[in-house]
Parts: sequence; C-alpha cells; structure tokens
Amino acid sequence: MIPTLTWTPEGVRFLDQTRLPLEESYVLATTSEQVADVIVTMVVRGAPAIGVSAAYGVVLGVMNTRARSVAEFRPEFERICARLAATRPTAVNLFWAIDRMKSLFAALAAADVPLDEIKQKLLAEAHLMYQEDIAACKTMGAFGADLMPDQGGVLTHCNAGALATCGYGTALGVIRAAVERGKNIQVYADETRPFLQGARLTAWELMADRIPTTVICDNMAASLMRQGKIQAVVVGADRIAANGDAANKIGTYNVAILAREHGIPFYVAAPWSTIDMATPTGDQIPIEERPATEVTHHAGKQVTPHGVGIRNPAFDVAPARYITAIITERGVLRAPYPDALRQMESAARS
Ligand code: MRU
Repeated sequence: MIPTLTWTPEGVRFLDQTRLPLEESYVLATTSEQVADVIVTMVVRGAPAIGVSAAYGVVLGVMNTRARSVAEFRPEFERICARLAATRPTAVNLFWAIDRMKSLFAALAAADVPLDEIKQKLLAEAHLMYQEDIAACKTMGAFGADLMPDQGGVLTHCNAGALATCGYGTALGVIRAAVERGKNIQVYADETRPFLQGARLTAWELMADRIPTTVICDNMAASLMRQGKIQAVVVGADRIAANGDAANKIGTYNVAILAREHGIPFYVAAPWSTIDMATPTGDQIPIEERPATEVTHHAGKQVTPHGVGIRNPAFDVAPARYITAIITERGVLRAPYPDALRQMESAARS
C-alpha cells in the first residue's frame, strides 16, 4: 500500500489525494505553513491522518525556527500550533495531536531541555503517533472483523481507509481484517458527494487490495438495502461525543437512518483519539462548512446556475441511538454509550 504521508529528511511527503485515482503524485511540505495548507486543501484528509500530519507540521515549525533558545521560541511555537489547529474544525484528532505535542514541549521546556534536543524529541513523538495509529487500526480491525457477515454486502461512506490514516484504515481496516479471515465480502462504496472520497479513494484503495468493490451514488443506498444486498454498514468518525453521537462525512446520518429502517447493523470504527469526552453530545460538535465551489463545480465544470444559494457542510452527526456498536482499539462498545465510554476511559487510566 502506498503510504498516505511519509517523513523524509526534506519534510513530509504527502500522497496528493485530490488527484487520485487518476494520478499518483506527491506534495512535499517543508514548513508548518505548507502542512496547514495541505490539510485545508485536502491533499491529506481523514481524521487520524490529519492529526499525525499536524504533529509533523509542529515538528517542521520547530526544525525551521531561527530562535536560539526555548524562551525565544515559545511565542512562535504557540503561533505554529494555532495555525495548524485552525485548519479543519471537526476532526478532533487534529486537536488531540497538537495538544500532545504542546504537552511534551511544555514538559521538556520546564525541564530546561535545550531546543536542539526538543526538536529530536518532538520528531520522535510524531513518529510514535504514526506507528500507534497503524497499530490502533489493526487492533480495531481484529475486533471489528468478528462483527462482519461471513458473506454479503457491506456498505461504507466516504473513505475511512489506509488513505485516511497512516495505514490499514478504521472502517476499511475492519473490512480488510474480515477479508483476511476469509469472509466473502462485497463492499458497496457510497460515492460521497461532493468531494467523492468513496468513488475516488475507497474504490482505489480497495481495488489495490483486490477486495470486491462496487461504487454507488449516495442516493442508491436505500434501494440496495431494500433489495437485501447490504448486510452491514461500517463507517469512520471525525469526532465521537461523550454520549456516543458520531460526526462523520456528510450523508452518514442518512445512511444510519436507512440502516435502522432496514434492520441492518450500523457500526462506527474509530481510534480512541477520535473520542471527545469533553463534548457532551453531537449538538456541540463544530461542523466544518467548506467552499461552495465543491458543490457548484464537478470535475472543474460548473453544474449549477450562477448565483444560486449553496450549502456545503462537510459533516453530519449520526445520533448514538442508530449506532449498533462503536469499534475502537480498546474494544467494542455498545449502548448505553455514556456509561460504556466512561468505563473504558477510566479502565485505560487505571
Ligand atoms: O473530509 P474528509 O475526507 O477528511 O472526511 C473524512 C471522513 O469523514 C472519515 O470518515 C473520517 O475522518 C474517519 S477517517 C478514518
């Protein structure tokens, strides 16, 4: 599998996801500002990949500074972190990763560690997050594979795959693990308007793994469910609130309602870094509004009349009551989610 992002001596090399599947090209970011830019423009996307990218963005900011001491560098460090945090508001992994880098910086600074040594330690921390992300995907894949049908159709929305993480994927990791176990799964990938993560990215990466995949337009899911072609739904998440409400790519809410109506299990797979215990319910999750041109234009061509009103919320919230289970690297959670999440959180602390 081609890596989503790679640290190199020159900077971070990103597979350009805006050009897939027709072109496999790369963007090299050598500054924290360039990392912020590739996140905003969705060269790299998907909550876990955004988080790790931001961590490397912090590293580049520290590596490039002209400051000679930690005291001199501190205000610049704050500006770098604030810039990266201002890129995409919904994916909580972004804030989780930046906070982790901030805490390490603060601890090292308090221990009078010299700036050159801090640079190396922050780089090591970003590498660790990268490795942890892949490990989390593999573990949640193993948990989730048990829940997949031995045979049948599995619908997914957007791309929660290797391309949205440092490798293997969350929802697609569950599917991969099920296929590795010999389950006979036919994936249905919602095209995922307007950015087409399903049609372009999920289809591309599953085909590379030779997992049988069929792309459908978003508005075809209900009909396929009614025909009995879908046995389970598995999606990723950008943020899961303390009550289990899950924000994911716009249209996920529709799929959750459809699954309930047709008696199909609806699973959300996400690493613990996507769980936001500080946000009580989905109503408090900030929803990113993206540029209108993503809706008005298709493949560079305008498809709507000049001047028409446009909305482009990039995410919606699937209420916890529609979620059959939340699959994490710590285990599988079931309703009531407030208790299940709290218990798993405190078990990990003790
Ligand atoms: O706007 P995107 O492409 O970053 O949205 C991605 C999703 O909605 C994914 O499902 C989510 O981030 C989980 S990725 C493992």
